[in-house]
Amino acid sequence: MKLIIGSKEDVSAQAAQRYVELLGKKPDAVLGLATGSTPLALYAELARLCAEGKVSFARAKSYNLDEYIGLDGSHDQSYRYFMDHNLFQHIDIKPENTHVPSGFVKDDEEAARYDAEIDAAGGIDLQLLGIGNNGHIGFNEPLTPFTSVTHIVKLTDSTREANKRFFSSLDEVPTHAVTMGIHTVMKARSIMLLAFGEGKAEIIKKTVQGRPDTAVPASLLQLHEDVTLYLDEAAASKLS
Ligand code: PGA
Repeated sequence: MKLIIGSKEDVSAQAAQRYVELLGKKPDAVLGLATGSTPLALYAELARLCAEGKVSFARAKSYNLDEYIGLDGSHDQSYRYFMDHNLFQHIDIKPENTHVPSGFVKDDEEAARYDAEIDAAGGIDLQLLGIGNNGHIGFNEPLTPFTSVTHIVKLTDSTREANKRFFSSLDEVPTHAVTMGIHTVMKARSIMLLAFGEGKAEIIKKTVQGRPDTAVPASLLQLHEDVTLYLDEAAASKLS
């Protein structure tokens, strides 16, 4: 794993440059995108670079990691809504080229069609990830099988608790989500994981220095040949 450590603004700007390089070489690249508070500085930088004409997403396609079950794109806590408002409306990507898993899939067989769609688009060139306090990537909670493709998950209490701040009460936080699997993520040609703040320091240590283990899903990224972690000093503070 490659590590890039600096201020959040600095490493977010460096992460943004990866899109400038990739889309410069391959304008129709396939991008795996993520929600959460972590990528917001990166998304703001991409909007700025796009407005300045330094990057174009006009021919790119995007596939998001995950979505809550039962929320449609008009719900302000759906991940489709998040992406539209925090990125897609501020860059030149074509709305029809943006994909977020449907929050209305009825079973895993239907959910897995997302992998087939990604494959048909040529596979993900660059996958962006955040990391949960328990090491989840997407909504792949601890002990998710290494071979998993896009599937429905029951959210852990800790994840629902962590996300409750966005809803009016814990009861309103959906109980299930649909997420790319670990295998879906590992198939990406390159992966970038961003993590900021002291709250992520312990899990970053396990991700980088622990044995690859499904108990810490992000640690499995050690088995991928092109992964870069973009960390602020606080998130990197427990690395030796
Ligand atoms: P965060 O969430 O970016 O809001 O910290 C990350 C995650 O849970 O994957």
